[in-house]
Amino acid sequence: MRLRTWQRMMIGGVCLGLGTLLAAVQIEIRVDQPGAPIAPTMWGVFFEDINYGADGGLYPERIKNRSFDFPEPLMGWSVVRLEGSEGDVATTAEEPAQTVRPRYVRVRSTSPRGGLGVQNEGFFGIAVQAGAEFDFSVRARSRDVRPPVLRVELVAPDGTLLDSRVLRGVPAEWGELSCRLIPKARELKARLNLVVEGEGSVDLDEVSLFPRDTWAGRRGGLRRDLVQWLADLKPGFLRFPGGCIVEGRHLETRYQWKNTVGPIGGRPLLVNRWNTEFKHRPAPDYYQSFGLGFMEYFQLCEDIGAAPLPILNCGMACQFNSGEVVPMSQLQPYLQDALDLIEFANGGADTEWGRRRIEWGHPRPFGLKYLGIGNEQWQQDYLERYAEFARVLGARHPEIVLISSAGPGPDGPHFRFAWPRLRELKAAIVDEHCYDGPRWFFDAAGRYDQYDRQGPRVFMGEYAAQSVRTGSPENRNNWECALSEAAFMTGLERNAEVVVMSSYAPLFGHEEGWQWRPNLIWCDGLRSYATPNYYVQQLFSRNRGDHLLSVQVTGQAPATSREPGLYVTACRETRTGEVILKVVNSAPEPRRAHVRTVGQGAVASRGTVTVLTAAELSEENSLEAPRRVAPITSRLEGISDFWAHTFPKQSMTVLRWRAGR
Ligand code: AHR
Repeated sequence: MRLRTWQRMMIGGVCLGLGTLLAAVQIEIRVDQPGAPIAPTMWGVFFEDINYGADGGLYPERIKNRSFDFPEPLMGWSVVRLEGSEGDVATTAEEPAQTVRPRYVRVRSTSPRGGLGVQNEGFFGIAVQAGAEFDFSVRARSRDVRPPVLRVELVAPDGTLLDSRVLRGVPAEWGELSCRLIPKARELKARLNLVVEGEGSVDLDEVSLFPRDTWAGRRGGLRRDLVQWLADLKPGFLRFPGGCIVEGRHLETRYQWKNTVGPIGGRPLLVNRWNTEFKHRPAPDYYQSFGLGFMEYFQLCEDIGAAPLPILNCGMACQFNSGEVVPMSQLQPYLQDALDLIEFANGGADTEWGRRRIEWGHPRPFGLKYLGIGNEQWQQDYLERYAEFARVLGARHPEIVLISSAGPGPDGPHFRFAWPRLRELKAAIVDEHCYDGPRWFFDAAGRYDQYDRQGPRVFMGEYAAQSVRTGSPENRNNWECALSEAAFMTGLERNAEVVVMSSYAPLFGHEEGWQWRPNLIWCDGLRSYATPNYYVQQLFSRNRGDHLLSVQVTGQAPATSREPGLYVTACRETRTGEVILKVVNSAPEPRRAHVRTVGQGAVASRGTVTVLTAAELSEENSLEAPRRVAPITSRLEGISDFWAHTFPKQSMTVLRWRAGR
């Protein structure tokens, strides 16, 4: 009699110890019965300008309040007097360089020696690398017959001069002066001095210090290391610009995409709604310069191969704040913004907004397919407004898939109110949000098993396990949280028929500038690191597969937070012909399982195994130890149609091998 491999192993198992074998879990994968397709958008990225994610983060302009247009015009600036020079420094808007951000600073130096000027503190200091090139520029004007020269200096906190240049030829009417600075040493907390030397009066505006080293080498482009983290996720989509920032605390301060495109100087400044949201982390100098605006978001999507998913205000301010609602009779401008955005992203030169996109440097359309209507809204006010957007956009742009909101939580009255109505409205994709403890995430791995297969699809649009509680400044990006998210994500993948999009939130946190934690990626002015949670996201997104495979797990009770065990999902990648098995072991000891592959031809004897784990659930990464919790991939031998594998305690494992046709 020819024994099949698994039968031989069973016999071998008796010799080796029946107890071990019988106690083992069995994972049976059917490779001959492909299940639901896994949407290319399944694993995406959520960006919001919180925690200095844009100015001070992804958008690497080093000068804070560069146009002196913060309500406190000299916020971020101080007066510098060299050798006790005299004169005054004041802001004014008289005959401005431009009208959108009219204010500028006038430096009137009355001493023939020394120098008078302004110093910028940057975002938690001006961060520079030794030998790196920075483009400095300023708009300047002097009505003096013999205009004075300007000195630009980068100085370390101890006064060490890092680099300096003299700018001559200040024009009588507004004009740009520029130079390149190359600091001689690395410094996280440098300052920039802009000084009028000797006697004279100069008006200064739009001061900029921008690194040459940007993503794709673009002038004025995004911070390279941070975009690289995003690109390395291979995200299916990028959601932007948020988050509550879409809504504003009041309608007046809502995000309006048209104010974020076109020449940078023409983009009006807006307060950042996170500036004083949390009393424990006030950030009164937090504004939105919109150097990172909708054009840049779309460009970023294109760069990293992610589908753009803009979220638009639907006529409602944040319901955690003022909750202002625009009357239905005044909704038209909001609808128009949506129509114009579709035109901006997809329209040709024969359309008004398509033409502007082309003028501003992007001839090809951005291929917008998804549009979010409101962020985290709830109750009848939202449903009425959503219905109107759906009616108007459905008629004009049936090709655009709309995303609607189920409110701020994954259950509760708002959630239960929204879902039946969204179903009636035949909503395409419903955005659910969840911030809760690790226990919730372990237990919710089966959440979507019961969801209606015929109803709207789900976007798990914001989620993150909170080690303490939502909003707590003590929350940590520890391994326990990441592991629970991994367990939950096996449930998202197993339910790919229902769940078509998901994203962790928030994305970036500045080590000194955060308001909210946990976050997926942390940075300071120069460095960045990925959290264990990031690596979990990455293991899913880079091992997405195209369609599910049916998996049966026997020999264990379904894993939960109280009954730890294996959380399992399997899929197949058509391009490589590989089976991808993801297993999260939440138990505090290793778990051995027999993996049986059924219904295929040959099974390759080799594959790869990637393990993400940590010695303790409390472990985290940091700037100093960025890869304490990081995946390790190795070759795997001895695979067959029935083989055994041990899953380390509290780990996530991805196994890949070729099987079948
Ligand atoms: O991710 C942080 C915030 O949490 C988002 O802005 C909001 O949508 C949610 O309440």
